[in-house]
Amino acid sequence: MTILVTGGAGYVGSHVAHALVAAGREVVVVDDLRTGAASAVPPGSPLVELDVLDTARLTAVAREHGVTACVHLAGLKNPGESMTDPGRYFKVNVSGTLSVLEALVAAGVRDLVFSSSCSVYGAARDLPVTEDSPLAPVSPYGLSKLTAERMIEAFGAAHGLRWMSLRYFNAAGASLDASIGEDWGPTRNLVPLLAKAALGFRDEVVLFGADYDTPDGTAVRDYTHVVDLADAHVSAVRHLADGGASGALNLGTGDGYSVLAVVKGLEEVAGVPVPVRFGERRAGDPPVVWSDPARAEQLLGWRARFGLPEILATAWAWHARGVTSPGSPS
Ligand SMILES: NC(=O)c1ccc[n+]([C@@H]2O[C@H](COP(=O)([O-])OP(=O)(O)OC[C@H]3O[C@@H](n4cnc5c(N)ncnc54)[C@H](O)[C@@H]3O)[C@@H](O)[C@H]2O)c1
Repeated sequence: MTILVTGGAGYVGSHVAHALVAAGREVVVVDDLRTGAASAVPPGSPLVELDVLDTARLTAVAREHGVTACVHLAGLKNPGESMTDPGRYFKVNVSGTLSVLEALVAAGVRDLVFSSSCSVYGAARDLPVTEDSPLAPVSPYGLSKLTAERMIEAFGAAHGLRWMSLRYFNAAGASLDASIGEDWGPTRNLVPLLAKAALGFRDEVVLFGADYDTPDGTAVRDYTHVVDLADAHVSAVRHLADGGASGALNLGTGDGYSVLAVVKGLEEVAGVPVPVRFGERRAGDPPVVWSDPARAEQLLGWRARFGLPEILATAWAWHARGVTSPGSPS
């Protein structure tokens, strides 16, 4: 069994690729390296540099490598950016997913695990967020993920594709040996930006919104360790190969932490204060989100092993090495 991992040179994708290899799977990575790094791909796994929009080449790669399942992570991930440049998000996340679907069908690949996001729920009114919560994205990014999910479902019905859409709640942390982690260059995610500032490579971090209706006024999120996310993908691939049901699942811890709690935690592991400044709320940012991860446990036997302390300790160990995926700190 060879697993095609699109976006496997990126942050979550490289952890997924490493976890699949550790579970004894053959992996072929497809990535155009726009934000990913070749050095993050597991040694020995082929990397094909390719835009997933190139359906013909993607089909050829799947055939050539005898691919039996795909984990599709290639995509853009910044809700704020999607508010000002929605076209790019629809192109990469929607058209890109359509291209992957067409390639899989053409190459006779039956199983697909897709990187979705809690952004499909938008500003959820009831917490925790379950898979049955209303799907009401508030950003083009969230809409692109929901549209991709719906296309996948349609391909499942029409072509017998079996699929799992995994809705991540804020991926964070790094590999336990600090060998791979999140590149702080392109990301807008909180933990790498705090680490960058703590190391003196950034003057300050702007925290968006201090007037939310939360205990300390900052937004609350369900931070989920990237190693846990990677393990869930391995379980999802196995589940589909065993003939398990298709469906969408939340991948979260079930706990929410405020932005200020993350700042405080990072300052503790780093041993230095992090310069932060409060800014306006960002359009498209819901105030409070955390998951009900029960269905993933029922279906995949998966539950998060790690919490915020492990997330911050591993992220700090990775960033303190002074290198980010593509090279030196920037
Ligand atoms: N990081 C998070 O908190 C989070 C949360 C929910 C969902 N996701 C989703 O998970 C996936 C991976 O996110 P990430 O955090 O690892 O981001 P990332 O930017 O580190 O990884 C994305 C990878 O996809 C590649 N890529 C992008 N567009 C491509 C294309 N058209 N063709 C080929 N390769 C392409 C990039 O080079 C990169 O290696 C994304 O689809 C993202 O939307 C991430």
